[in-house]
Amino acid sequence: MIQAVRGTKDILPDSVGSWQFIEDVFRKVSKDYGYYELRTPIFEKTEVFSRGIGDATDIVNKEMYTFKDKGDESITLRPEMTAALVRSVIQNSMLQQSNTLRLWYFGPFFRYERPQKGRLRQFHQYGAECLGSPYPEADAEVILLANSLFREAGIKDFNVLINSLGSDETRKKYKDELLKYLNSVSENLSKDSKERLQYNPLRILDSKDENDKEALKNAPIILDYLDAESKEHFNKVIATLEAENIKPIINPMLVRGLDYYCDTVFEFQSSLLGSQDSFGGGGRYNGLIEQLGGKPTPAVGFALGVERMLLILEELNSLTALNTNPTIFIVTTNPSLMNISQNIAEVLRRKKISTLIDLQQRTFKAQMREANRVSARYVVIVGEEEVQRNVINIKDMKTGEQKECPIDNLINFNFDF
Ligand code: HAM
Repeated sequence: MIQAVRGTKDILPDSVGSWQFIEDVFRKVSKDYGYYELRTPIFEKTEVFSRGIGDATDIVNKEMYTFKDKGDESITLRPEMTAALVRSVIQNSMLQQSNTLRLWYFGPFFRYERPQKGRLRQFHQYGAECLGSPYPEADAEVILLANSLFREAGIKDFNVLINSLGSDETRKKYKDELLKYLNSVSENLSKDSKERLQYNPLRILDSKDENDKEALKNAPIILDYLDAESKEHFNKVIATLEAENIKPIINPMLVRGLDYYCDTVFEFQSSLLGSQDSFGGGGRYNGLIEQLGGKPTPAVGFALGVERMLLILEELNSLTALNTNPTIFIVTTNPSLMNISQNIAEVLRRKKISTLIDLQQRTFKAQMREANRVSARYVVIVGEEEVQRNVINIKDMKTGEQKECPIDNLINFNFDF
């Protein structure tokens, strides 16, 4: 038997209803906030991500599915959307049409990580990006959008962690100070962090290793290095959220794993997830658009992991699913009546009533069993004697009640859905 690739999952028909429910929430809440959907290709030229996310990050260094295509072009399956979205925004001159560009997306992403609960090699993200505004209200808007999404989907209890990485200059200054400190405690750092010391020391800050955490206790804090402008921006974001009853937790160790961030960074965490406790995150990326060849444009956004959201909802026992079952099952007492059944089914489907017929020429009893198995709301019984009188029987599967109805009048039958 050929197995699916490690770290990938089939989404089977019995769980598709939950996906459809959550995708509905994405669509509705995005519209409430005035965001438009953008769909881009699943793969991009590798440089979109290596230039966009940063060569020193784990994503670019270790996790990308990169290959040469037959034309010898280096191609990468998208590990995230922000860089790809920016590529598309520039290519399609979308920023020239509007000062504030609000976009959302949903789809599969790929990272070669060690699979575990909540960590896959093909996973799904929803994200929203607000391009064009340097103001703190934009940061607050994307966090409020995320908050509405989670609530609408049924997740009410989660933490919003927030930090500011300040300007490029602040980060440079801070990095020097942090390096000095880290070098003084380097013998206590984990192997991974020792490596990071060389190429991405900021990332050591949000290491989950207990020794690292201990060694970082007296590390300098980036918030102490912010200039007045960044400080004011950060405070305004927090005040705006608090005015909407969201109490973010300031965490000066939060740096996130992508290089494009400046100023605000944030993450959504749930204690129900275990070690992969972050189910969404984002921040400001004022330099990315210019870095990928566009006009300098401030921007902020976030993405959430759909599998992780579904895990939380499962833990909460509040997984809602759209009903994907058919409404009507047509039971035919004799195969010679199949053409009549098929015709009735087509009439109902044209009326947007989802209808199944039996395709196995089963017995009456077996067809009734099948109608039960697929949770049909009504069974339409097409019987020989009835068909001669031009009628059919309609059985309400909730109440057990059965009513006769002229075939020609089926369309006007008062189905109670
Ligand atoms: P990220 O933190 O790398 O940010 O990913 C966002 C979310 O995607 C994570 O919080 C997590 O829920 C989910 N996720 C990431 N990797 C995996 C995985 N291997 N398996 C399952 N779920 C995963 C970004 O991708 C940024 N583009 C977010 C952003 C948008 N920043 C600004 N705009």
